Amino acid sequence: MRVLGIESSCDETGIAIYDTEKGLLGHALYSQIALHAEYGGVVPELASRDHIRKTLPLIDEVLLETNTSRAEIDAVACTAGPGLVGALLVGTSIGHSLAWALNIPALAINHMEGHLLSPLLEENPPAFPFVSLLVSGGHTLLVEVQGVGRYTLLGESLDDAVGEAFDKTAKMLGLAYPGGPVLAALAEQGIAGRFVFPKPMTNRPGLDFSFSGLKTFAMNTWKESGHTDQDKADIALAFQTAVTETLAIKCRRALKETRLKTLVVAGGVSANKALRKRLDTLADTKVYYPRPEFCSDNGAMIAFAGAMRLLKQKSAQPVTRFSARPRWALDELTPP
Ligand code: KG4
Ligand code: ZN
Repeated sequence: MRVLGIESSCDETGIAIYDTEKGLLGHALYSQIALHAEYGGVVPELASRDHIRKTLPLIDEVLLETNTSRAEIDAVACTAGPGLVGALLVGTSIGHSLAWALNIPALAINHMEGHLLSPLLEENPPAFPFVSLLVSGGHTLLVEVQGVGRYTLLGESLDDAVGEAFDKTAKMLGLAYPGGPVLAALAEQGIAGRFVFPKPMTNRPGLDFSFSGLKTFAMNTWKESGHTDQDKADIALAFQTAVTETLAIKCRRALKETRLKTLVVAGGVSANKALRKRLDTLADTKVYYPRPEFCSDNGAMIAFAGAMRLLKQKSAQPVTRFSARPRWALDELTPP
């Protein structure tokens, strides 16, 4: 079976085709980063308009590239939430219209489930059950995963998501949007140990996170510094170290509590090299990641999540109605 995936929850239009026997056939991504850069963040209305411009041409591109005719698509999977409602409506409207016209099922996919399952696109994928650490621009979640749609939330961020904390700290340091990867690159020039940032909520039990204080800590450290390029790099490194240490401590705790030995990390921040290096040192744990291009938003993870659900779904229904859900918690999902 071939599933066409459509991702449009934020500032990336991602299209892919996943074949349940042959694997990922092809994918295309259009990033709106340049469009939003001059505003220093995502402008929702501009994002929606750009998804309208890009979705159909990208679908045509992927069909052509994978030598797939429309008649060969067995289902359409689109991101139905969480995300920006206007952006979600573009992808879900196009996806459901296409499914309706082709008389095939449409699957409403949760964006975070897409991220969560994305490491399973790789060779030698992890087996269920595992602990998943999801670190993106909008979410920081620790989840116990027993199978597709069988998710128990272990912990989450009470304020800023990790990616958001990276982006806000980067912005405060005057770095370009989106700041996460830029801050990570700058941290490579930093001198370790010059500044030491707190590791929020690690000195008490529990698996929740709080990252907004780190941004304030970074701001105060910057204000008191000499404002040199080296100060900036040292702050970037201290911030990144505090974040990676905090995440590692909570992952270790989650693995211990669940008695699991497999950790699966996904979402935009899972591309961070320092985080990967730190998590790889967790004792007695095998850690899995998506390839770097599938850490951030993409269509492949949505096509894949759709395919996983379609395989188990006895009778996929034709399209009668659809919705976009700006908020949609992962643990509301049920198995296919
Ligand atoms: O998963 P994603 O593409 O979008 C959401 O669903 O939110 O995550 C984007 C986030 C942004 O905050 C971005 O700055 C961050 O991931 N990010 C990074 C790195 N690459 C992307 N943060 C730290 N280090 C990186 N290398
Ligand atoms: Zn995402």
